[in-house]
Amino acid sequence: MSSKRFKIKSLSFQDAIDSLQQDVVEGLFAYPRSLPPKYFYDDVGSKLFDQICSTQDYYPTRTEADLLNQYSAEIIELVNPKICTELGAGSSTKTEILLAMLCANNDTFTYQSIDVCKEVLIDSANRLLKKYNNLYIESVAGEYIPSIQVAPKYTNKTLYLFIGSSIGNFSEQDSIELLSEVANKMDEADYLLIGMDRVKDHEILERAYNDSDGVTAKFNLNVLNVLNSKLGTNFSLDNFTHKAIYNEQQQQIEMYLISICDQEIDFPTLGKKMALEEGERILTEVSRKYTKPDICSLLKKSDLEEVAHFEPANKFFSLVLAQKTL
Ligand code: AVJ
Repeated sequence: MSSKRFKIKSLSFQDAIDSLQQDVVEGLFAYPRSLPPKYFYDDVGSKLFDQICSTQDYYPTRTEADLLNQYSAEIIELVNPKICTELGAGSSTKTEILLAMLCANNDTFTYQSIDVCKEVLIDSANRLLKKYNNLYIESVAGEYIPSIQVAPKYTNKTLYLFIGSSIGNFSEQDSIELLSEVANKMDEADYLLIGMDRVKDHEILERAYNDSDGVTAKFNLNVLNVLNSKLGTNFSLDNFTHKAIYNEQQQQIEMYLISICDQEIDFPTLGKKMALEEGERILTEVSRKYTKPDICSLLKKSDLEEVAHFEPANKFFSLVLAQKTL
C-alpha cells in the first residue's frame, strides 16, 4: 500500500518466521523458559496493548502523555525538527501530540514510523494522513535495528522518538547496542526524545502489570495465539494464567505465563514436543525501571548526552531529550 503521502516497507516475512523458530528453540526450550516480548504485537496484541494503555492501573501512558502535553512546545522550540523518526510507533497516539504541533508549524512534515506490527502502522497512517494534510509518512514494519538501518536518512534536522519506555524490554547490553545504533544514525543537530519508566513502590508497579480489568492478562496470553497461528502449535489459553512480579534486585517487572496443569505442547514445524508441569512458568516480558542516575549512565554508555530532563511531580516517569556526544 502506497499513496503520494504514504510509503511502507516490510522487512521480509520469511526472516520473521525463521527468527521466531530460533527464538522458540533458544527461549522456550531452554531454562528458565522465556519468549521475547516482540511477539506480543500481532494485530490483536497491538490492539490489546492500546487497551492496557487506557486502563486506570497502567499509569505510564497517561503520565507520559501529560508530560508531552506540558512540554511539547518547549521541546519543539528547542529542536525545531523537520522529520520525526519513531521506534515502536504503535498507534502513534502520544506522538500525535507532537505531530499536531509540527504540522501546524511547518509547510510539510515527514514522520517515519517503525513498528513490528504492519497493520498498526497502516491504521495509524490512515488516521494521521486524514487529519494532517501536509503530513508525509514513511513506515518500516520490522524490528528496531534492521528498520532503523533501512529508514532513509535525510539531511533535515531529525527528532528521533523512543517513547513509552519500550527501552525497558532490553537488557542493559542490548539497550546500549540499540541506542548506539540510533546515536550512530544521528547528525550533530539531531535529537533523541526517550521515555523511561522510573523505579517506584512495588505495589504501584505490580498493579500496573496486573490490571484489575484483566487486559494485561489477555495481552500476555495472546502470545500463545501468535505461536498457534504462526507455528501451528496447540496451546490452549485456558491452561495458563498471567502473573507479573516486581524484581526489586533487578529493578524490573517480570511477566509470566504459568501452566495450571501438566501438559504437552506440539511444535510440528520443529518436530518437537514441550512438556510443561503444573506451576511451571514462561518469562514473556521484562520491563526495566530506572533511577535518574541509571538514565544518565545508560545514555552516556550509548554515546548520548542529556540535554533536558522532564518529569512529573511524583517522579513516576522521565522524558529525556538527548544529543549525540561530540
Ligand atoms: C511497551 C514495553 C513499554 O513494559 O510497560 C505493558 C509493555 N507489557 N503491560 C511495558 C507492557 C504489559 C510495555 N512496553
